[in-house]
Amino acid sequence: MGRADDDGRHDTEGVDQTELGVAWLRAQESDSGCPLFTDPYAQMFLDAAEARGWQLPPTHVMDRIRSIADYAASRTKWFDEFFIAAGAYGIEQMVILAAGLDSRAWRLPWVEETVVYEIDRPDVLAFKAETLRANDVQPGARYVQVAVDLQQDWPKALRDAGFDDTEPLALAAEGLLSDLPAEGRDLLFERVQELSVSGSRVAVESFGAGRREQRSDVPRWLTEHGWEVTTTTAADLMDRYGRCGPDQPDLTTPRTEFIDARLVC
Ligand SMILES: C[S@@+](CC[C@H](N)C(=O)[O-])C[C@H]1O[C@@H](n2cnc3c(N)ncnc32)[C@H](O)[C@@H]1O
Repeated sequence: MGRADDDGRHDTEGVDQTELGVAWLRAQESDSGCPLFTDPYAQMFLDAAEARGWQLPPTHVMDRIRSIADYAASRTKWFDEFFIAAGAYGIEQMVILAAGLDSRAWRLPWVEETVVYEIDRPDVLAFKAETLRANDVQPGARYVQVAVDLQQDWPKALRDAGFDDTEPLALAAEGLLSDLPAEGRDLLFERVQELSVSGSRVAVESFGAGRREQRSDVPRWLTEHGWEVTTTTAADLMDRYGRCGPDQPDLTTPRTEFIDARLVC
């Protein structure tokens, strides 16, 4: 595989370097000696992108991507466990915001009757659908693409696609909040609230309160709106999965927190 000569978000048929970088990390983790998960679809996406002219970014960018490999693996594992637990709690509607090249609909052991709704931009979802169709792989749940920009009225698009807002949901926001403007983040949670009934669960990768660009404190916002919230720091999460101990500070670990919340009222 060659390398691109810049590190910009240049398109490869609608899918850019960010999604492909995360897919590359998942492919590497899958091939490692003791993986936290196996994602055989990540390599399919990379191969499809390469066939359309995508190249690995230059070395300094690859070094940056590699530096968060343990973080990214722990994050994937945590969201996997969130959805598996949601199924065990009886939730049948899963919503993945900004799904990118996430392959949970194909690789997780879904309970029968589960519907996985994926929201992302039309070009990203089209690339994904084409690649999986070309490889003749089937999802393990009923899979519904909702091609809409999250700054538009995505709750309407979700309902139009069959989502039932009288039933609980499990919703994930992974790798998303930093892409949204501050007011967009507040609106996002207001919309999640509007779609959620008691028993719903959300999982969010968030930046710690106090970061300049993080206007709202997500755990506080959720608590004030009736959610029971558990927060885990990235360092604790990586420690849990054996990827970094608290006594081994890793300066490349993003200062994020992982928020798991259940609507109780
Ligand atoms: C870094 S990727 C994360 C993807 C996925 N959650 C993962 O971890 O592999 C960010 C994704 O967010 C999507 N995204 C960012 N802003 C968006 C928006 N306003 N509306 C819809 N999708 C958006 C991008 O298209 C991209 O697929």
